[in-house]
Amino acid sequence: MGKDRIGILTGGGDCPGLNAAIRATAKTALAKGYEVIGIRDGWEGFLQHHYESLDVPKTSGIIDRGGTILGTSRFSPFHVENGPQRVIDTFSQAGLGALVVLGGDGTLSAAARLYQMGLPVIGIPKTIDNDIRGTDFTIGFQTAVQIATDALDRLRSTAESHHRVMLLEVMGRRAGWIATYAGMASGADAILIPEIPLNDDKIAALCETMKARNRRGKRFSVVVVAEGAQLQLAKEKTKPVSDSQTEALQHGIAYFLGEIITERTGIETRVSSLGYVQRGGTPVAYDRNLATAFGAKAVELIEEKRYGVMAALKGGIISSEPLDTVLEGIKTVDMDIYRVAQIFFG
Ligand code: F6P
Repeated sequence: MGKDRIGILTGGGDCPGLNAAIRATAKTALAKGYEVIGIRDGWEGFLQHHYESLDVPKTSGIIDRGGTILGTSRFSPFHVENGPQRVIDTFSQAGLGALVVLGGDGTLSAAARLYQMGLPVIGIPKTIDNDIRGTDFTIGFQTAVQIATDALDRLRSTAESHHRVMLLEVMGRRAGWIATYAGMASGADAILIPEIPLNDDKIAALCETMKARNRRGKRFSVVVVAEGAQLQLAKEKTKPVSDSQTEALQHGIAYFLGEIITERTGIETRVSSLGYVQRGGTPVAYDRNLATAFGAKAVELIEEKRYGVMAALKGGIISSEPLDTVLEGIKTVDMDIYRVAQIFFG
């Protein structure tokens, strides 16, 4: 019985495209005669035996739905006593033959370590951050880029009308992929990412870019800032951060930079933050198709008994990548791509 029963779980931050991946994995497996079990709320639900049978009706009509019908959590079995062994025991008690794990770096890292302990897992990489090594793109990323690009396009029109600098803060705590791709797509005048620390020289150059645009008659600018952009202000070179700047920093890096730009350039500045809007709603067609291809690939890997790997996109080809790759760290922005975007700054 066990070999013919596949479990599916979604863990970590949600993203557009998760339901498309659940649908593809379940429908592909059901068509091949497997029984499919949907596990609720990621690893947490797994340990609590919260799972239910998935059939075609339950996984139909969800390709365009945001979020995950299974629910998710940021719980890790490695953060509770005897958690990994409890996962392995639950896997057997549920009569599973394989487990498909849809996750970002946290969830897939746990999957990699559980595979090393003998659990037959297959990964599907998803996160709006696109910071998973071994795959060109992750499910959810292109939708977040489109949402941020639409926002930047709108901010450009109001910046131009009011002769202002508009800053948009986007998600990306440790990698600036969303900022880089959305900034490039919208023709942003600057893109600030965690990979390039913001020291005093970088901030001075940013302010100069705004002033130079004004001198050329472009009395507005649009700047996109990843939430994880790092400040490296040399205390001795920068006058003490003012109270208003300190308060602004509480709201996020973009708010702090907005204060500085206003202060140093005299140009009126406004700040917006997209937050969780980037994580919700219907996936764009690209993510629906990537999720569909990854779901079908996951079942193919199960058929071949190639566990301990994740579906991956490599050079535009659907492939696979050892889950251990995720343990090596996150995928930061490719500087060759950033340098292309940089050509068009200012
Ligand atoms: O991992 C995706 C992500 O959206 C990050 O971009 C963001 O910083 C983080 O999740 C937010 O985490 P949470 O949903 O737990 O607040």
